[in-house]
Amino acid sequence: MKMTFDGKVAIVTGAGGGLGRAYALLLAQRGARVLVNDLGGDFTGQGANPSYAAAVVDEIRTLGGIALANGDSVASREGAERIVAEAMQAWGRVDILINNAGIVTSRGPLWEMADAQWDTDIRVAATGTFQMCRAVWKHLWDKDYGRILNVSSGSFFGMGSGLGYPAAKGATWGITRALAATADHHRKNIRVNCVMPTAASRMTHLLGEDVDAAMKREYLPEAAAPVAAYLVHDEVPCNGEMFRIGGGGFRRVFIGITPGYRSSPADLDMETVRDHFAQAMAVDGYTIPRNSIDALDADAGVDWSAFGPGII
Ligand code: NAI
Repeated sequence: MKMTFDGKVAIVTGAGGGLGRAYALLLAQRGARVLVNDLGGDFTGQGANPSYAAAVVDEIRTLGGIALANGDSVASREGAERIVAEAMQAWGRVDILINNAGIVTSRGPLWEMADAQWDTDIRVAATGTFQMCRAVWKHLWDKDYGRILNVSSGSFFGMGSGLGYPAAKGATWGITRALAATADHHRKNIRVNCVMPTAASRMTHLLGEDVDAAMKREYLPEAAAPVAAYLVHDEVPCNGEMFRIGGGGFRRVFIGITPGYRSSPADLDMETVRDHFAQAMAVDGYTIPRNSIDALDADAGVDWSAFGPGII
């Protein structure tokens, strides 16, 4: 059976180009009504231009789909609330949110990095994801239905320049895990997942001409969109997961904990740490915690579950 989004309303942020445009087009082609948001600045976050979102809405309408354009910034409370309110006003509901808006400003040696570069990267990816999630969360909670997809980046694995971008993209992973754990705990039909995409876009010239040209051959945004769309579909089988997507492929990214080493608290000295360091590092028998309680030491003699939902 072909998977559709009939009856669903989706918001895709930063959808005036690149990956967001591909996500919005695919959702609309498969029946969703889509609010296409894009501030329309340059890739470092300067300026604004409503024609970005409007052009994608025109494309969707030409293909017979239903869409609305919005030019607000996701980075402020007012902007995020207006984006959600416009979708609610037009269609009475929101089911899907893809927090795709992003920029890269922090590059180069750390000692040259300006406060403003840090602030701008954090403001769009981290604060923007928070603002959008907060603006829509109560609505999803009350109707017991929602699909959210956040956007991280491979820079989270370690990127050689700039700190604001990878820090902000790590925050989107933290937001994903926290909201997914909360929804799980309260048995809500809300799924919050995350992707680390790879795709040719106006951002990828930063990687150099050769890589950019190869990406334009092998990594078109359309080759990542089906995974993103599956992750916001009714049938999505996971919550709180991260996937690397792009170039026609997808694979799980996870954070695990090794069995490690434990002595009695009184016996642990620095030499014991040195002598058992390899044991703490060895990945055999690792586990993947579902939430922060799962991640605590099961054999520490404390009933962590007594913390209850407050901790997640
Ligand atoms: P892009 O620059 O084409 O798309 C980002 C869009 O977000 C732009 O259209 C921009 O106008 C919009 N935007 C920026 N600030 C905004 C704000 N405050 N409010 C609303 N819209 C805003 O870049 P691309 O590559 O399509 O990136 C999409 C997402 O994927 C970004 O979050 C990016 O960080 C992430 N990403 C992309 C990778 C790639 O290989 N292209 C790699 C890793 C992550």
